[in-house]
Amino acid sequence: MSTTSNNSPRLEIDGTREKLVQLGLGHAAEVLGEELSEAVKQNRVAHQVLDRLLALELRQRDERRIKTSLKLSGLPPGMTLGNFDFAFQPSLDKRQIETLATCAFVPEHTTLLVQGPPGVGKTHICVGLGVKAIEHGFSVAFYLLEELLHEMHKDADVAPQRLRRKKYFNVAYLIVDEVGFGDPMSHRDASLFFRLVNYRYMRGSTVITTNKSVKDWPGIFGCDEALTAAILDRLLDKSVVLNIRGRSYRLQDLEKLLK
Ligand SMILES: Nc1ncnc2c1ncn2[C@@H]1O[C@H](COP(=O)(O)OP(=O)(O)O)[C@@H](O)[C@H]1O
Ligand SMILES: [Mg+2]
Repeated sequence: MSTTSNNSPRLEIDGTREKLVQLGLGHAAEVLGEELSEAVKQNRVAHQVLDRLLALELRQRDERRIKTSLKLSGLPPGMTLGNFDFAFQPSLDKRQIETLATCAFVPEHTTLLVQGPPGVGKTHICVGLGVKAIEHGFSVAFYLLEELLHEMHKDADVAPQRLRRKKYFNVAYLIVDEVGFGDPMSHRDASLFFRLVNYRYMRGSTVITTNKSVKDWPGIFGCDEALTAAILDRLLDKSVVLNIRGRSYRLQDLEKLLK
């Protein structure tokens, strides 16, 4: 029997573990001992042991991918479809959200327009769907409109072929949160927004939350009717509109106090 440097006996399983590590199957290497003991107890045959080991490695990789993608996406934490209280917001059709949660709309490059007053859960729903999109393997990015415009200004003179690598251009699911809240956009902001929408048209799914109904959109884009029409033309060509008409979740405690 050979020994390791700290004099503990070298077991056959150590060699197997090393081979797994060399092959990049770190998690399988970690759980090998445990799985083999469990296999003896449960009377598992060889192919079952191998299959379980590979499945555990794959699951761990997927969990790591999801964690990294969530971090890169900029999605605010704590907003999932699982912790959304649908009973509180009856104007939202739970079945429609469950259908959207399959993410079939993402590869179809469908726009999601989420309208409603403050606090009704617009951001929460879009973020919850974003988490689902990541779980399904899509790339996701979240921006407040203001932050996005700031980024786009910095990139305003970047050549189009280099722009393609920008996250807000190439992710499969882009959330632009809080459109229409601030002052009307300058012509330059509105043009940059059009460039984004035009590039993503037929290439990615764009999700917009807004407190303004579509008829008030010219006011958002600096009263430029032609530009607004061009933006809406691209956005609404293939779109799902969610109108959330209800109470503010943020103000419910205040409502109770005032009763
Ligand atoms: N139906 C709901 N169930 C659970 N939490 C909710 C619900 N609606 C809103 N919230 C929570 O209330 C806060 C405000 O919601 P948010 O999505 O930011 O609203 P909006 O974007 O419409 O202003 C967030 O913390 C959100 O997680
Ligand atoms: Mg919001």
